[in-house]
Amino acid sequence: MKVLVTGGTGYIGSHVVVELIKQNHECVVLDNLSNSNESVLDSVKKITGIRPTFYKADMLDKAALGKVFEQNKFDAVIHMAGFKAVGESVEKPLLYYRNNLDSTLNLALCMKKYGCKNLVFSSSATVYGKPESSPVNESAKLSCANPYGWTKFMNERILSDICNADKSMNVALLRYFNPIGAHESGLIGENPNDIPNNLAPYLIKIIMGELPKINVFGNDYDTPDGTGVRDYIHVVDLAKGHIAALNKLATNCGLVIYNLGTGKGYSVLEVIDAFSHAWGKQIPYSFAPRRAGDVDLYFADPSKANRELGFKCEYNLDDMARDSVNFALTLKKARQKNQ
Ligand code: NAD
Ligand code: UFG
Repeated sequence: MKVLVTGGTGYIGSHVVVELIKQNHECVVLDNLSNSNESVLDSVKKITGIRPTFYKADMLDKAALGKVFEQNKFDAVIHMAGFKAVGESVEKPLLYYRNNLDSTLNLALCMKKYGCKNLVFSSSATVYGKPESSPVNESAKLSCANPYGWTKFMNERILSDICNADKSMNVALLRYFNPIGAHESGLIGENPNDIPNNLAPYLIKIIMGELPKINVFGNDYDTPDGTGVRDYIHVVDLAKGHIAALNKLATNCGLVIYNLGTGKGYSVLEVIDAFSHAWGKQIPYSFAPRRAGDVDLYFADPSKANRELGFKCEYNLDDMARDSVNFALTLKKARQKNQ
């Protein structure tokens, strides 16, 4: 298949591109590089032997997006471009609604105009808000706690309505749980320029020597060790879930929704332990007050994706920690060499 990957130079996008190429799909990457770097595609080439065609374009720029569709006949689109920082979305809601909604609307218009019928969309477990119980399945009540979450909720709504109105459209809404880890080569992974908000990239910065210690937000939750519990999924497993979703779309399935998680929850302290073990050194941490808006515990019921997509996670928490540490050390070495 010829696949347009929006947000394809980003953390998850770059891993999806690698898996697509490995499965012999033809990839075209579109990104405005607002949160990534084009050099990621050199790493993709080192891993796969292929550097995909790249368009530096903003999805808010209808003309630029139209040109990409004019020049290519896509069988499917995997739409991952978007802003994702929860805190920033609270401070700048307009920025988030504009970027995350207009990008999807512009894309949907192009897909309609150029007859592209298959779309995989990056949604998030954030649409479950504070789940009433875990494991959470796809029919759980939806509610969001911040503008970022609402953009995912609204995008899901928009794409569902488009699918309902046009029976020839196929859309997979993938609700990711907590992606962490990196490609085993150490060449691609998550390394934001700013101080990270999320757990794994924060630990990566500590291992790179860029941050001294991590604050563990809350040790008085109703969880086994008092710290927050999440369903961490290796980014390579997550990426493979996109290929499985594309295969599902090829059966003309209409609208489908899947959780992509492992079905297991791990606490913040368990993650810190796994990273410390993989690093061979203790990650320094101290306890801090709960972070506003945090949920104590949730994890996925991934059985629908297991059943209908044949999706099964191969990697466990130790693998995620090993690959994250390898990525951090590879990056650190490369930076030292370039100094
Ligand atoms: P990322 O920031 O690494 O990747 C997103 C990419 O989109 C970036 O490369 C950025 O430059 C690009 N982008 C943003 N706005 C754009 C625009 N208007 N036009 C073109 N490109 C644009 O983030 P990620 O972690 O790889 O996330 C990918 C998708 O998955 C996002 O939609 C995110 O909301 C969703 N998601 C991520 C997580 C997570 O924890 N990482 C969890 C659930 C869902
Ligand atoms: N945590 C810390 N210290 C930190 C960062 C995080 O203790 O410096 C804790 C959090 O309190 C939480 C756990 O680590 O208990 C995971 O936090 P993350 O920020 O890594 O991830 P979240 O589960 O809060 O949320 C992320 C995204 C959401 C998305 C969700 C599921 O930010 O948008 O994963 O995909 F919905």
